[in-house]
Amino acid sequence: MLQEAESAFRTITVKAQPSGFGAEIAGLDLTRPLSKDQLSEVKAAWARHAVVAFPDQPLSLEQLEAFTLQIGAFGHDPFIKPMPGHPNVLELRREPDEKATNFGAGWHSDWSFQQAPPAATLLHSEVVPPVGGDTLFCDCAAAYEALSPTMQRMLAPLQAVHSATRAYGVKGVFARETEARTLQIITSPEADKSLIHPLVRTHPVTGRKALFISPVYTTGVEGLTPQESQAILGFLFAHMTQDEFIYRHKWRPKMLLMWDNRCTMHFAEGGYDGHLRLMHRTTVAGETPV
Ligand code: SIN
Repeated sequence: MLQEAESAFRTITVKAQPSGFGAEIAGLDLTRPLSKDQLSEVKAAWARHAVVAFPDQPLSLEQLEAFTLQIGAFGHDPFIKPMPGHPNVLELRREPDEKATNFGAGWHSDWSFQQAPPAATLLHSEVVPPVGGDTLFCDCAAAYEALSPTMQRMLAPLQAVHSATRAYGVKGVFARETEARTLQIITSPEADKSLIHPLVRTHPVTGRKALFISPVYTTGVEGLTPQESQAILGFLFAHMTQDEFIYRHKWRPKMLLMWDNRCTMHFAEGGYDGHLRLMHRTTVAGETPV
């Protein structure tokens, strides 16, 4: 159940989830460019709620691209073949008879193994299955804030190791996959590289600190043994994925969702075998985490 519309906004209607994490934005036609005031209120609502849904937005690919560019420059999406003629749009299509695991079925923050991972991901629903197919989001800022001050101080100097190896590496999940998949994934030795980011990052707009790790892309903690890394990361993943930090997004057709990869991670749920699910996805470039 969404809350009453927030009075802080003049040009848009913003109704938040009871936790404040996640909100719906109405009163806009995203097929046209937004006014300066609308855009600034959309960005403010997004900063406040991290995951914002725009229901009833029948966007063409060109309109999705144009709205994305109002938020910021396109990000770089590696390891997946983009749509023909739309180099910045990924089509997440899973056919009714597809047996391969649904894409995104593991907690992650998009492309966190990049030097400057995307600030935002936008996902537009074309065909929504009648059952399953929800997307779950974890509030990584609230999860950080719920840790004891002693644990927060312990994590402060740590650098987490990020890599795409488990998913897109030459021995990764997709390289070993035997079932056919509509989404065209390009596994590569590039994916086996790794880099480090602060385990706790500070949001450039809100100033809030958030845990910046995920089970899919975080492979260790710099300077710790694998066992030590596993102990800390295992504790943090269990902590972050408790119900109190999760927003379950239920899709309706022609809905645009925009999430902030700097303070969330997400998980695409399956449960819709026998039904088509079709989404279009873009990303917005971000900054090097600090
Ligand atoms: C993803 O971007 O991880 C996929 C999300 C979804 O399909 O719900």
